[in-house]
Amino acid sequence: MKILIIGSGGREHVLAETYAKSHRVKKVYVAPGNDFMEETSSKIQVFPHLSLLDFEKFLKLAKKLDVDLVDVAQDNALAEGFVDTFGKHGIPAFGPNKRASEIEWSKEWARKFMKKYKLPIPDFETFKDTKKAVSYIEKNPEAIRFIKASGLALGKGVIRADTKKDAYDGISMMKQFGSSGKTFLIEEGLIGEEFSLFAICDGKRYVIAGTAQDHKTAFTGDLGPNTGGMGCNAPTSLINRSILSEIKTTILSPFIHGMTLEGRPYTGIIYLGGILTKKGNLPAGRQVKVIEFNARWGEPEANVILPGLQTDYIDIVESVMMQELMTTTMRFDNQVRVSVAGCAKGYPTNYDQAKGKKIFGLNDAKKIKGVTIYGSGMKRKDTSYVVNGGRIFHLVAEGKDIHQARERAYTAMSHIFVEGNNLQFRTDIGFRELARSL
Ligand code: AMP
Ligand code: GLY
Repeated sequence: MKILIIGSGGREHVLAETYAKSHRVKKVYVAPGNDFMEETSSKIQVFPHLSLLDFEKFLKLAKKLDVDLVDVAQDNALAEGFVDTFGKHGIPAFGPNKRASEIEWSKEWARKFMKKYKLPIPDFETFKDTKKAVSYIEKNPEAIRFIKASGLALGKGVIRADTKKDAYDGISMMKQFGSSGKTFLIEEGLIGEEFSLFAICDGKRYVIAGTAQDHKTAFTGDLGPNTGGMGCNAPTSLINRSILSEIKTTILSPFIHGMTLEGRPYTGIIYLGGILTKKGNLPAGRQVKVIEFNARWGEPEANVILPGLQTDYIDIVESVMMQELMTTTMRFDNQVRVSVAGCAKGYPTNYDQAKGKKIFGLNDAKKIKGVTIYGSGMKRKDTSYVVNGGRIFHLVAEGKDIHQARERAYTAMSHIFVEGNNLQFRTDIGFRELARSL
């Protein structure tokens, strides 16, 4: 088989590796992809000169390469309806269609859907009008809230407001997200521990595809602005049997059922960003609440989950596309994995100065036992790699437990430098899991 993956980051890199592992897969193309992906396997080929949302070029490429399947892995491409349009041209595409992926690309639609089907969520209101939003804040100025652009914003459209002033600043910042921020939400701030959980759905049924804990804010100690994700550990012991059972009953089942009733049956990967609220000590259920759904794998969650997958991914994907999910469990190895995002200094706000700067030490880092590096914002220049984005790479280390995985990850990170001291990363990835293990 020949597969084409749409996207260019660390998520697409690990997906390419996962498909390439199958003896049934002859070639994996990634468009645009990044140069570093080709180091993983001779089966992988990238097309980095293409721009991400140029559908006509992707269609031409898919036809020319005569691919058997397109995996639309990236959120903007899903929101543009790539799955629908490939399908119309007779090319099977994996992922939710445009209407189903609205669960990610419109937070307004998503929250209204969740409310209608009684999923556990924080209180929220949606706004288009700044004045109305300000008077809403006036009614209860002390509360902790989250101000959120409704549309896609590279994981950066959410602002935490602890004070009235923060809330006003957050409201006025919505403009900077252009059409994505025209409608915005103000949500009750939930207190608790966050997690990411993945399931693969065929429209009627789903199978759990792993759990992880992301570290969303830019700086060590959970400080600074939100980012696309600074590092992960997987699996997370936060999700024990009883919590998983609660998630299935109160979140996943009503999600699948509701999407079908809305005429938007969900096919593909669903990513639940959940929070285990402090009310967790109370006897009644409803401990877990939904922060958001995404219509795809997470980055870097995919990088710590997929390397441990023992079931052939293409078999699962094919069965989903035939709406006959082949399995009720996905098999994983028993390793623990930690990823650290190597970022350009200044990420996520201002990091232009790092662009084009040389990256050193990748080969030395890869020599540490259990370490793999997935490329994201980087490109080849002559014989080395240079910075080409905010999150440059995700370094993943596996180990028998969280201690070993972290130790290997940070030993490997100590070998990597970016010209002009332009590397930034968090030094505390996995700290919650570590605390739980002591
Ligand atoms: P989102 O893009 O909706 O996942 O939001 C980004 C991050 O903001 C989440 O990972 C949470 O850390 C935080 N967040 C968003 N909404 C809430 C909420 N209602 N309560 C607590 N934290 C939230
Ligand atoms: N890790 C967060 C995301 O993929 O959206």
